[in-house]
Amino acid sequence: MNKTILITGGAGFIGSHVVRHFVLKYPQYKIVNLDALTYAGNLENLVDIDNSSNYTFVKADICDEAAIREVFATYRPDGVIHLAAESHVDRSITDPNAFVNTNVIGTVNLLNASKELWKDNHEGKRFHHISTDEVFGALGDTGFFTEETSYDPHSPYSASKAASDHFVRAYHDTYGLPVVITNCSNNYGPNHFPEKLIPLCILNIINNRPLPIYGDGKYTRDWLFVIDHARAIDTVYHEGLNGQSYNVGGFNEWKNIDLVRELCRQMDDKLGRDPGTSAKLIQFVKDRPGHDLRYAIDATKIKEELGWEPSVTFEQGLEKTIEWFLANQEWLAKVASGDYQRYYQERYVTGL
Ligand code: NAD
Ligand code: TYD
Repeated sequence: MNKTILITGGAGFIGSHVVRHFVLKYPQYKIVNLDALTYAGNLENLVDIDNSSNYTFVKADICDEAAIREVFATYRPDGVIHLAAESHVDRSITDPNAFVNTNVIGTVNLLNASKELWKDNHEGKRFHHISTDEVFGALGDTGFFTEETSYDPHSPYSASKAASDHFVRAYHDTYGLPVVITNCSNNYGPNHFPEKLIPLCILNIINNRPLPIYGDGKYTRDWLFVIDHARAIDTVYHEGLNGQSYNVGGFNEWKNIDLVRELCRQMDDKLGRDPGTSAKLIQFVKDRPGHDLRYAIDATKIKEELGWEPSVTFEQGLEKTIEWFLANQEWLAKVASGDYQRYYQERYVTGL
């Protein structure tokens, strides 16, 4: 094996797709998946590849500086693809400190460990930080986020991600650390944790429970199939220029209410229910504080400079996603137990 890549957060939604992608596509790389296995981390996401000879899992918390130092000393990674994070806006509103710790301090711990390990030679080394379009704040009815858009985060989640992006850039500018950043739009797909809009609605449609739409449902998100995000990360990790950031998105905007109606239509079809059955579950509920009106990514740079573009249409991606959730209801039932039950009860049942 000619290279070791440390992927953080590899047991989570996007991370598990990134780990699978790299393990299968690059047998010559050793892939080390570092994850603390929080409520969002689940090794069952990786059962199909966890026996691969080029794959290793390490349970560690990126906030634990000593543990991170030890992992770097043991595996001496040539590259880091950093996805570990607290990722849910609603949770960040109730517990901002967890977001500061993991997303900011955890990222700085990884930057320090990389800087120390690579201090004598940056050749072939890379720190790829996975960020979000939410750092740019909110758009009005028109326009797109480009790589030049100023940061203007509104939620504790996006503020913590913005801070981590700034640290990553600062380590490039100050210490010459070879970094790249990707800012991606909302992902959807298999293994998506059911606290987020699409999997939450799929779970609730299956169980005939209300579909909570915040505010008037006119908030707009730009959705990308998770496997296309994994492909984009591969492209930028290998071809991106040091110190640069790349926006990743599929030019695929949906108002939440239209998206949920489309989901209802497809779920009725798949479940053999009469048309209109699932849409009756839609309920408008109290809005999220500081709710960003619209996100939309301009993904021209990654397409023109690196040749990446999405491989599936939204129609194909959503169908694959629904089929995966219907075929994996045991996975869904398992992750929707424990901590998630308490979260759901407090947030939606008492709140509705
Ligand atoms: P997720 O919540 O599904 O997974 C996060 C993973 O990180 C989990 O496996 C969790 O166990 C792990 N983790 C959390 N805290 C940790 C810690 N202190 N130490 C080690 N591991 C820890 O998140 P996701 O949706 O897969 O997002 C992954 C990354 O992509 C995040 O950095 C997020 O900001 C970014 N991102 C997400 C989206 C999206 O739509 N989900 C879009 C753009 C960018
Ligand atoms: P979410 O999946 O939490 O992603 P993000 O906040 O990172 O964009 O939410 C997507 C959109 O759906 C967002 O505008 C908030 C809205 N939403 C609801 O209307 N109801 C819900 O129950 C959830 C979780 C989200």
